[in-house]
Amino acid sequence: MSGISAKRVRTRHFFEAKAAGTPISALTSYDALSASIFDEAGIDMLLVGDSAANVVLGRDTTLSITVDEMIVLAKAVTLAARRALVVVDLPFGSYEASPQQAVATSVRIMKETGAHAVKIEGGVERADTIRAIVDAGIPVCGHIGFTPQSEHALGGPVIQGRGSGADKLTRDARAVEAAGAFAVVLEMVPAQIAAKVTREISIATIGIGAGPDTDGQILVWQDAFGLNRGKTARFVRKYADLGTSLLDAARTYADDVSARSFPAAEESYE
Ligand code: KIV
Repeated sequence: MSGISAKRVRTRHFFEAKAAGTPISALTSYDALSASIFDEAGIDMLLVGDSAANVVLGRDTTLSITVDEMIVLAKAVTLAARRALVVVDLPFGSYEASPQQAVATSVRIMKETGAHAVKIEGGVERADTIRAIVDAGIPVCGHIGFTPQSEHALGGPVIQGRGSGADKLTRDARAVEAAGAFAVVLEMVPAQIAAKVTREISIATIGIGAGPDTDGQILVWQDAFGLNRGKTARFVRKYADLGTSLLDAARTYADDVSARSFPAAEESYE
């Protein structure tokens, strides 16, 4: 098994991995069965992302998912994960009003789910909030570059950090680092800029659409393993085609039921 060598991955391992040049693997997870498989596979970090709004709940954006919905999903993941660090997204509307609101939401998530850390979108403008959560004893992963909760303000899923945006990205990364985050997700950022930010900050960068030189990589599992049969972003590599396998299996089952060939005698009680 590659990646972080630890029985239980903790935030300090992210600093060690960065120092040693050991790539950190991360995937999203929103249920117990996927969490236990990814955990067994040695994935270092499982993110209960608010992308659950899209890939679990079928919504167009992440904006509508609630803290209550995130908690149900996160509980299932923490119960199943034995080794991976479990991080839960603070959903839109649950932290922006004040650092106090963010601390209250984070405390609730930590108490009710058993997660190990929270993730929050935003850079310079969220530094005080990140600091307040960290001061409450809760590890924080930042998220800068394209931040889906601001997709209407950003004008859609647009690459961030190009041209003069590179300076903003660097300022955001430094602010998240200075506020005490243990890692930061860089989403949809030119590879060279992500590499530069990765060299310049002391906390681990986890890339999604940020090229090969970040300290770790994360993908939404339904995209990476092909359960999502729709169009995916350029940065997604498809490692499996679960959507087609499931479609074939469901069709075969439907045919078997129609033909009364399921269940057979050995699948029935005497
Ligand atoms: O919610 C999510 O899945 C995320 C990843 C894209 C990093 O934030």
